[in-house]
Amino acid sequence: MFASIAPRYDLLNRVLSLGLDQSWRRAMVARLPALGPEDRVLDLCTGTGDVALALADAGARVHAGDFCQEMVQRAPEKEGAKEHGIGWFVGDALSLPYAASTFRALTVAFGLRNVEHPGNGLAEMARVLSPGGRLMVLEFSKPTVWPFSALYSFYVFRVLPTLGRMFSGSKVDAYRYLPESVWNWPGPEELAAMMNERGLEVVEQKSFLLGAVVLHVADKR
Ligand SMILES: C[S@@+](CC[C@H](N)C(=O)[O-])C[C@H]1O[C@@H](n2cnc3c(N)ncnc32)[C@H](O)[C@@H]1O
Repeated sequence: MFASIAPRYDLLNRVLSLGLDQSWRRAMVARLPALGPEDRVLDLCTGTGDVALALADAGARVHAGDFCQEMVQRAPEKEGAKEHGIGWFVGDALSLPYAASTFRALTVAFGLRNVEHPGNGLAEMARVLSPGGRLMVLEFSKPTVWPFSALYSFYVFRVLPTLGRMFSGSKVDAYRYLPESVWNWPGPEELAAMMNERGLEVVEQKSFLLGAVVLHVADKR
């Protein structure tokens, strides 16, 4: 599905989020813990690499992976990517090619919801984080404030799939899958409990756009 939308993925992100998506990614990067010269940061489900590039801009030594080659191969071609020396890789978030406690911080933006077993994904993320290391998950959620919740649901179920199909050029209905996956996704409290069970203590949950997007920040015990 992601391979089929890769060529227009960035453009659609900007258009469908009304230009807000990069500000949410920047808010995540702003919560990076202090990094020593040897500390490394991992961006998972990196897609076309926007978070990885923002992390590198902030001075982090970054590794970034995604299991969809068509998405991740676009990242090194982006402006400024070559100078950063990011370690791009194609790989599965459920089985990472790293030893335990390798990373000081780990980010995943709009990715955990798409991992086949999110609980197992969180356990694997906890494994590669060093003790005290920080996990930051940026994900969609369901807004709860009426009437915005009603407007938002009209937008994601009616408007977004039509625009997505028109502009992505993809025959696969990725932009119909998106609202369905968001509606089936656990709310902030449930996600915090899932993290807690895997040794990740939630220290902040920051809502954007009246709860349509939530940034979950958790530190490994
Ligand atoms: C919506 S995109 C998000 C991309 C990027 N993080 C961003 O902020 O735009 C979700 C990405 O998750 C990747 N993905 C889903 N399951 C994965 C897994 N098990 N391992 C690695 N990548 C995965 C997909 O290939 C896709 O590129």
